[in-house]
Amino acid sequence: MNRRISKAIFPVAGLGTRFLPATKSVPKEIMTLVDRPLIQYAIDEARAAGIEDFIFVTSRGKSALEDYFDLAPDLESALEKKGKTELLEILRSTNMDSGTIAYLRQHKALGLGHAVSCARKLIGDEPFAVILPDDVIAAEKPCLQQMVEAYQDTGGAMVAAMEVAPERTSSYGVLDIAEQDGAVTKVRGMVEKPAPGTAPSNLAVIGRYILTPQVLKNMDSIGRGAGGEIQLTDAIAQEITAGRDVFGYSFKGERYDCGSKAGFLQATVAFALARDDLRDDLAGFLAGLHNGSQG
Ligand code: G1P
Repeated sequence: MNRRISKAIFPVAGLGTRFLPATKSVPKEIMTLVDRPLIQYAIDEARAAGIEDFIFVTSRGKSALEDYFDLAPDLESALEKKGKTELLEILRSTNMDSGTIAYLRQHKALGLGHAVSCARKLIGDEPFAVILPDDVIAAEKPCLQQMVEAYQDTGGAMVAAMEVAPERTSSYGVLDIAEQDGAVTKVRGMVEKPAPGTAPSNLAVIGRYILTPQVLKNMDSIGRGAGGEIQLTDAIAQEITAGRDVFGYSFKGERYDCGSKAGFLQATVAFALARDDLRDDLAGFLAGLHNGSQG
């Protein structure tokens, strides 16, 4: 199979209940880290990795996402008239070409594996990427790009991997390690959300994947897994059972769990501190808080 990755699936059907009441009317993926919606970080990372076709698996109440990716001609001409060229540039950098985005609906919340498999017909016969926008990764070389490069040598299926504290493994897909060679780990098993104390390692799956169409086919036979849902982890683990290669890739970068409030706040602070226009003000404010709490 060729190893060019040009399509990415973005599962965005989740209800975002952890951010209620905000997510009553705003999709979680539109919530902003500093001044960009969460989904923009995922799109930028995909583009950097050479992705040309963007497939969103959505659900009811996500129309603000489609609007976000539409052109904003009135806004553009207003900015143009006012000579706000810098803002205009920022706005235009978010424009997507016609025909590059597809929206599919997952009609029932049957799990991440099921959501990804909804895109089966659009994927065809090529390997593809999956990006979970909740996992925001700050890195010099974007995470998916690191993986696409490594995948040129490995083939198979690949998941982003990161060491987590032993008491956190039950929140993740966890890898059973066969052998490690630098950043690449050959995997001999995968468990979704193992019960505390039963995880095969501390190496957790983070939301970046390079998969083959066979993984989508596996979804037909795996049945329901952890939490009664059809799990992507189980469909990937099926590859190992069938004798095909699965790898974990330990990316370089800082990952923020923006599916949790604490992670979202940490990302907000870290991203703001990385910005020239915000750093000094925010750093001063944080130092003041810190001193205050000590006094
Ligand atoms: C999903 C995956 C899990 C993975 C995690 C990474 O879980 O099912 O394997 O470790 O994303 O963020 P979720 O966070 O949707 O429960």
